Amino acid sequence: MTTSIQDDAQNDSALRAQAVARMRERRFGMFIHWGLYSAGARNEWMRHRERTPDAEYQRYLEHFEPDLFDPAEWADLAAAAGMKYVVVTTKHHEGFCLWETGQDTDFSVASTPWRRDLVGPIAESFRAHGLGVGLYHSLIDWHHPQFPIDGLHPLRDDAAARAEVRDVAEYRQYLHAQVTELLTGYGPVEQLFFDFSYPEHIHEGTPVWGGKGARDWGSEELLASVRRLQPGILVNDRLGIPGDYITPEQYQPAEPPTLDGVPALWEACQTINGSWGYDRDNTTAKSPDLLLRMLVDTVAKDGNLLLNVGPTARGELDPVAVETLRAIGRWMSRHGRAIHGAGPAAYTPPPDCRYTQRGNRLYLHLFAWPFEAVHLPGLAGQVEYAQFLHDASEVPMEVLSTDAESHMTSAAGTGGDTLTLELPVRRPDVAVPVIELFLR
Ligand code: GLC
Repeated sequence: MTTSIQDDAQNDSALRAQAVARMRERRFGMFIHWGLYSAGARNEWMRHRERTPDAEYQRYLEHFEPDLFDPAEWADLAAAAGMKYVVVTTKHHEGFCLWETGQDTDFSVASTPWRRDLVGPIAESFRAHGLGVGLYHSLIDWHHPQFPIDGLHPLRDDAAARAEVRDVAEYRQYLHAQVTELLTGYGPVEQLFFDFSYPEHIHEGTPVWGGKGARDWGSEELLASVRRLQPGILVNDRLGIPGDYITPEQYQPAEPPTLDGVPALWEACQTINGSWGYDRDNTTAKSPDLLLRMLVDTVAKDGNLLLNVGPTARGELDPVAVETLRAIGRWMSRHGRAIHGAGPAAYTPPPDCRYTQRGNRLYLHLFAWPFEAVHLPGLAGQVEYAQFLHDASEVPMEVLSTDAESHMTSAAGTGGDTLTLELPVRRPDVAVPVIELFLR
């Protein structure tokens, strides 16, 4: 039996719809930035910032030996933190390949003292823990000899290097071949995070000359080949042409993002401390409580949160990351059902609160703790039962009489449609208290 092109297209769009539903169900993932820059331990853009020549950067290749690499431990931590998928760097802008690529380069894990593949063991370990696997792949490549030097390149001020003739078509071929390797060698890849296009880019206030985009990458062709190889995949929006989801980076959108006026599929990517790669001397880690509020805020706006860790060059997560993940896990183990499979609600939350909703359960997340009462407009008569989510203790509800005026010891009415919850004076000792409201 032959299937028509139309049948194929229908299958592909059914697969895509499934993938979108799965991504929304998961809500929380782990981003991993790992590469030679982990040895420099001062951010993955260090080569750009320090204008490091290839010969000097080579020392990281020669000494990269992650002898404590234990991807099962990473997967364990991610799963315990309530993360449902991982996106791992296969190559960052520095050009170092974390797998043994068949393409012509001496800049892969095969050339390090470690010598063996890192992408496969990561993918297998996370899948074994029930997590989905996604890949990050840099479009930018500061090592490839045919990648034309531009205003972001580490050799941007090197006159001799700038005088070299470089052919982006040759780099493009390398890029496409490597993406094919990644999508054929590592099982089902659910998300692909390309990074990034910058045709008219302003970097730290200065326009970047020689910026690159869809034409340089051959984005249309690349995307078509990605979809052919993995029809169920979701691709991000950084190829310079529209993708499947958008990727706000290191900021929380004030409103749910839209594309052409329609609510967009989106994933915020966030760091613990502002750096993606391991940054030894960084002291700006966000608290687990803040990261959890960011996760709740994201889900309340129908998005996903991809939270990054930057392993060390020995292959461990640093202690701050480990403790952060554990603290997140302590909250997620009791509050996961307000996150996974949950999304925005039609009600407007009171100040300093967020709603998420899953089926007929509405979750009120309290970012600040009010005294004794929280008023929920529009919910009078709508709620059958209310309880704290962490311990399933009942939260009493009442509708304050609508016409009452305030008196010495009694509050004024709140209007007929407002439901009031009675809170204990002491805030529950959890990162974000959540009240689960069973809607009628
Ligand atoms: C970027 C950066 C980067 C990081 C990333 C994550 O634009 O260049 O270092 O990998 O996006 O979203």
